Amino acid sequence: MCGIFGYIGVKNAADVLVGGLKRLEYRGYDSCGVTVASREKLGTRRVSGRVETLEKDIVKHPLKGQVGIAHTRWATHGVPSEENAHPHTDCRNELVLVHNGIVENYLEIKERMLAKGHRFKSDTDTEVIAHLIEERIKEKIGEKAPPFLEPVFFEAFRKSVNEIAGSFSLCVMWSRCPSMLLSAKMHSPLIVGLGKEENFVASDVSAFLKFTKKAVFMDDGEIASVKKDSVDYFDFKGKKITKKNSVIQWDSSMSEKGGYSHFMLKEIHEQSEAVENTIRGRLLPLEKNNLDREIGLKADVVKGIDRIQIIACGTAYHAGMVARYVFENFGLPTSCDLASEFSDRAKIIDKSTLVVAISQSGETADTLYAVGEAKQAQAKILAITNTVGSSLARKADFTLHTHCGPEIGVASTKAFLGQLAAIYALGLHFAITRGKLLYPDAKEYIGELLKIPRLIDEILEEKDSIKKIANDYSSSEHFLFIARHINYPIALEGALKIKEISYVHAEGYAAGEMKHGPIAIISEGMPVIAIATNGRAMKLVAGNIEEARARGAEIISLVDGETEKLVKAGRKILVPRTIELLSPILNTIPLQLFAFYVALNKGCDIDKPRNLAKSVTVR
Ligand code: F6R
Repeated sequence: MCGIFGYIGVKNAADVLVGGLKRLEYRGYDSCGVTVASREKLGTRRVSGRVETLEKDIVKHPLKGQVGIAHTRWATHGVPSEENAHPHTDCRNELVLVHNGIVENYLEIKERMLAKGHRFKSDTDTEVIAHLIEERIKEKIGEKAPPFLEPVFFEAFRKSVNEIAGSFSLCVMWSRCPSMLLSAKMHSPLIVGLGKEENFVASDVSAFLKFTKKAVFMDDGEIASVKKDSVDYFDFKGKKITKKNSVIQWDSSMSEKGGYSHFMLKEIHEQSEAVENTIRGRLLPLEKNNLDREIGLKADVVKGIDRIQIIACGTAYHAGMVARYVFENFGLPTSCDLASEFSDRAKIIDKSTLVVAISQSGETADTLYAVGEAKQAQAKILAITNTVGSSLARKADFTLHTHCGPEIGVASTKAFLGQLAAIYALGLHFAITRGKLLYPDAKEYIGELLKIPRLIDEILEEKDSIKKIANDYSSSEHFLFIARHINYPIALEGALKIKEISYVHAEGYAAGEMKHGPIAIISEGMPVIAIATNGRAMKLVAGNIEEARARGAEIISLVDGETEKLVKAGRKILVPRTIELLSPILNTIPLQLFAFYVALNKGCDIDKPRNLAKSVTVR
C-alpha cells in the first residue's frame, strides 16, 4: 500500500496535498512527504511519522507553488525514516517522484545505475525509478536543455515505466518542466481527478473528492500527462488513447473505506491483492532462487536446517499451524507453538533449528520475547511480518515481508492470507532448494498458487449467499467449527473470528476429536460449520458431519464441486476447487464473511471489538 497524490492548478498546492494525504493515511502512515514546484524551484518536506507532523512542519517552513506531489508511506523496502520517505529524487534533485507498489527488479536497475555513476540516498526500491528517468533524459539531451522539454520528459518517463517490473502507480514532476505531471499505472490504483483550472492524480478518489467528483480510472499500462487545463492519456507504447469520465457518488468519509461500511469488509475484499502482492516476484522463474536474493536465505542455510520451530499468537498462530503441514509436506520436521507458551520448548532448539516467527504487527510482546529466547539458544530467526522496520524485523536474521498494506480492522483478515501466501512461497523455496521438489512438480504447485487470487475474487462475488446463511444463524449462542488436517487451523480461525467480533461462544475442533468428548455439547439446532472440501480425509469428514447431524446439529458445510455430493444435508457454501495443500486460503474467506455478517446482524462494533487491541504489546 501507500498513498500518492499530485496536484496542478491555481490553489496553494501544499494545502491541497496535505489535506489529501490525511484522507489517504489509511493506506499507510509510517512516513510522508510533499514536494511543491514554484517556477523551476522545488521545495520538499519529509517526515518520519504521520501527516499531522508534516503539516506542522509546513506551517513552520511554508512551501509556495501551485503544482506538487505528495505521499504517505507503508514501508515495503527500507525502514520507515525521513530518508526513505517519498518524494524521492534523482542525483540533481531536479526530478521528484512518488510511488505506490513494489519494483521487483530494483536491485538489477540499481546495479546498472550505480555503474553509470548515480548516487542513491535511500534504501527504497522507488528511488531507482527517479535515476532511471534521469538517465533516459540525459541520453536525450545531454547537459544542455533543448527548447521543448515536454516531449523529452514524456519519452524518458515512458521508456522508464516499460523497464520496471512489478506494481506501481507513479506521479513524477521535473523542475525544468513544471507545467506537467506524469503518472502511470501497473497493478496499483491510480485515478485522475478533473477540476476547473486544476487537475489531480491520486491512489484513491478520497484525496480529491472535496474539489471534484469527476474522475478517470486509469487501467494497467496507461500513462496520464496532467496539466492545469488538460489531461492526455497514452498507452505504454506512447499511443494516444481516450478514457471515459466517471462521476463519483461517494462522500469523502465513505471513500476512506473505499465505499465499504467497515474496514474489516474492505480488508476481506483486498485479499486477492494481498496474496498476489505477497507472492509476486518470489516464485518464478524457479532458477533465479528469488527468496535467496531477496532475503538472503542462502542455500547452505536452507540445506543445514534440521527442523523448523514456528512461534506466533492468535490468528498468526493459525497461519503457523498451516505452515507446519506445508513444511512437513515438503519433508521438513516442524513444530508450531503459541509464543506465550514457548518458554519450555526453547530448551529443545539449537543452531540447526530455523525459528519462523509470524506476526502481522511485528510488535507482539509474546512473540518478541519468544524470539529472544530462541536467539539465546542460537537458532536462526526468520520473521514473516507485514511491518517493515518493526521490532521483529529488526531482531530477525531474515525477514519475509507480507505485502498486505495496513490492516486497520482489529480482527485480522488480509494479513492472515498474506501470511499463508508467504508460507507457501517459503515452503516451495525450501522444497526446491533441498531437492525435495523437482522442476515439473514445483511448476505445478506454483501454477496452482498463481490461480488463487482469481479464485478468492470468485468467492467474494458470492458473498450474498454467505450473508443469507449468517443472517439465519446470527441469534445462535454457540457455533462449532470442524475440519481435519491442514484445514483444522482454519476451523480454529473461523471460531476465533466469530468470538472476537460477535462475542458469542464458538469452538474449533479437529473433526476426528468430536467423538472423544465435544460431541456431547451438540443439542438440537446447534450450527456446526464443517470444512468439507477436497482432501485425503474427506470421507471421514462426511462421516463426522453425519454424526453431528444425527444429534440435532444444523450443518453448514464448505464444499467444492467434487465433494458437494458427499455431504448429504444442510446448507452448503460452494468454494472453488484447488489442491488440498492450498485449500486453507480459499476456505478462510467464507468463514471471515460468515463472522462479519453474524456480527453485523448483532450490531457489534466490528472494526473495534471490545477488550481488544490491534497490537498486543504486553505479555
Ligand atoms: C485476531 C488477531 C490476533 C492477532 C494476534 C497476533 O483477529 O488479530 O489474534 O493475530 O494478536 O498479532 P500479530 O500478528 O500482530 O503478532
